[in-house]
Amino acid sequence: MDILDKEIFYEAAKEYGTPLYLYDLNEIRRRVKIVENSLEGLKFKIFFAMKANSNPYILRFIHSFDVGADAVSLNEYKMALFSDFTPDEIIVNGNGKSTEDLDFYSRENPLCVNIDSYEEVKKLAGKRIKVALRMNPDVDARTHPHISTGLKENKFGMDFETAHKLIDTLPSNIELVGLHCHIGSQITEVEPFKEAFESLKNFVDREHLNLNFINIGGGWGIDYQDKTDGLKMSEYRSHILPILLSFNMPVYLELGRFIIGHSGYLLTKVTEVKKTHYKTFIVIDASMADLIRPTLYEAYHNIEFLSNGNEKVIADIVGRVCESGDRFAKDREVELPEIGDLGLIYDAGAYGYSMASNYNLSLRPAEVAFDGQNLILIRKREQFDDLIKLVEEKA
Ligand code: LLP
Repeated sequence: MDILDKEIFYEAAKEYGTPLYLYDLNEIRRRVKIVENSLEGLKFKIFFAMKANSNPYILRFIHSFDVGADAVSLNEYKMALFSDFTPDEIIVNGNGKSTEDLDFYSRENPLCVNIDSYEEVKKLAGKRIKVALRMNPDVDARTHPHISTGLKENKFGMDFETAHKLIDTLPSNIELVGLHCHIGSQITEVEPFKEAFESLKNFVDREHLNLNFINIGGGWGIDYQDKTDGLKMSEYRSHILPILLSFNMPVYLELGRFIIGHSGYLLTKVTEVKKTHYKTFIVIDASMADLIRPTLYEAYHNIEFLSNGNEKVIADIVGRVCESGDRFAKDREVELPEIGDLGLIYDAGAYGYSMASNYNLSLRPAEVAFDGQNLILIRKREQFDDLIKLVEEKA
């Protein structure tokens, strides 16, 4: 990936303050192209997994490349509409849809609703709806356990036997248009995909299914450490593309991280450099409330301080929230910064802002996009008033 000129970060921090999310639009464009090139020869469509990043400006930008939306909740669905996607460009996911959700989708008529279970079908009585069945192929995605979804111990999808029974008994109001399979996120090896899609193909053949598409989910991993592509596209082409071609029907993908992950930076300022007898702590003005990935998954993000060539130190880089887990890096070698120096947390475009919270009454950061020339404010920083606007006023 191309890293932006450092001046942009100084300018953005000066204009909009920190912590601040900055997205490089050219990088998003480049990532969409990589996906397209990797799948050349296949009839496919990309749906952007909105849970990775649901800023409407970003969604509109991604939509401009003829990419659809994968929505996992009613509000993501509404946000997709707000961002100018039409229902026939939206796929609905999720494992806990209520009867009311399904009523809504039946009226809306999106491209397809991915059905998570046998039980969910009961909630569809009398509703006209286009569905795909979410298959759980019991494959180990070899990723962090919290983001593995295709094992039988995971809550998602149904096994092949259940799907077989379901297909036999589907009432005529439910139109089966596809099969869906998403085995996890941040997958960097091709093997798990191969195993999953081969068993999906066997199932399609056994059932003699006549479908409009196969939806293979997302999960393409990126490299958080040295900025090469996590999942090797050449390996994907040689090992996975032949299986996808063998389905002989259009293939849908629900990619989030691969498209948006590298494009995002979390800009932060150093508020303290604290030295104890035991170690050095670099305290920054971002926290787990802004980017929870390191706390939740012990995820690695590159961090760089824009300092003046100071000596290197081994330090913990921590936030300002009252939890010891509020730590971006442990025993990391970095240039020793000074108070006020700018810090960059890399690869924060996916599951960054979208997982941010108000913990410790933190205000969610602002978001800006950089189009190669200009910085564009695409979401304002939260203010204290935003924290109280849903609360009854004191009498
Ligand atoms: N489709 C479905 C049904 C999903 O559940 C997900 C992600 C995706 C597509 C997109 O996956 P991606 O291409 O982004 O890997 N918060 C975690 C990741 C959770 C992923 C949840 N599902 C993280 O920060 O690593």
